[in-house]
Amino acid sequence: MLKRYLLAPGPTPVPSEVLLSMAAPIIHHRSPDFLPVLESAKKGLQWLYQTKNDVLILSSTGTGGMVGAVNNFFNQGDRVIVVNGGKFGERWTKICQAYGLEVEEISVEWGYPVKPEVVAEKLKKEKDIKGVFVQASETSTGVYHDIKTLASIVKNYKDTLFIVDAISALVAHDLRTDEWGIDIMVGGSQKGVMLPPGIAFVSVSEKAWAKAETSKLPNFYFNFKKERDNLAKNQTNFTSPVTLIIGLNESLKMLQTEGLEKVFKRHETLANAMRKAVLAIGLELFPKESPSNAVTAIVAPAGIDGQAVYKNLREKYGITTAGGQDRIKGKVFRIAHLGYSDRFDVITAVAGIEMVLKGMGYPVKLGAGVAVAQELLMV
Ligand SMILES: Cc1ncc(COP(=O)(O)O)c(C=O)c1O
Repeated sequence: MLKRYLLAPGPTPVPSEVLLSMAAPIIHHRSPDFLPVLESAKKGLQWLYQTKNDVLILSSTGTGGMVGAVNNFFNQGDRVIVVNGGKFGERWTKICQAYGLEVEEISVEWGYPVKPEVVAEKLKKEKDIKGVFVQASETSTGVYHDIKTLASIVKNYKDTLFIVDAISALVAHDLRTDEWGIDIMVGGSQKGVMLPPGIAFVSVSEKAWAKAETSKLPNFYFNFKKERDNLAKNQTNFTSPVTLIIGLNESLKMLQTEGLEKVFKRHETLANAMRKAVLAIGLELFPKESPSNAVTAIVAPAGIDGQAVYKNLREKYGITTAGGQDRIKGKVFRIAHLGYSDRFDVITAVAGIEMVLKGMGYPVKLGAGVAVAQELLMV
């Protein structure tokens, strides 16, 4: 038997409480049975997002939320800034271009966060920028962009929206939607909120809703104004993902019991232990600054193929992680500590890395990283 451990940056493990809640018989999405379920999810998401604004619930993966964040608020030819520091930054550019927006890209070296002053300069220099798009946690590189500072910069421009892809950062990082002034923030179910894939969440500020009134881009499935009107009635525009929303209420309940502050602290503690353990093994972290609390990207040592580390972890030890993407494929492997994650997930991952590397001929002192993680994670 090979016991499976899911330590990928999405999908992430789903707690048994959540799985069991989703085993309930299907209820009809337009029936009175469902209205309180959606109302509870709506309120819970506002709590998680730290917002009084609407948080829309869409039947799609996170990328659907990203598409809606573009085609509900802009017009063809609108000039926007995209921070591109990895695969998901690149995705913002591709989506914006698919809808005819003119993208001024800020290209950031992979492994580094964007310098907020570069965004400030660009906004000053380029006239008439309608939106600034960024990731909170750039999952491909394991870097966290400084959302608080970026929000404070964009806030000075009354015609510019600040749009954050928080698909992997939600739950792992403290993101204060209203306090900081994030206009649109996208989340996804299969990450920090501990659910199966299939729903996206999008918060929308008053400033963004005002912009939506002037947007003429075509949309049908992701029509946010219709979603907003339905949400007010505790409904969704089309058939609701009833089962996932029932599961969402259960996972939100677990997060609420823990408390937001403790949830963020847990992620910070796990991420810190993972990073220190990895360094103790003698490995290098891929992010040179501002590492994400959701996922750790680790540089494969010289002569070792990062994809082989990922493959061996899964095939020999049952630990599913993630390899590198695009230009860093083979050069890194990535381990998540996101959502339903605790100290023994980190210890398991570190032990697995040590065993795999030793098996591949890399000089590892077994237990070197594990001991560091244990020290940091003891209560
Ligand atoms: C930061 C980020 N953005 C976007 C996505 C895409 O989300 P999905 O695969 O749910 O469409 C992911 C998924 O890994 C992600 O981590």
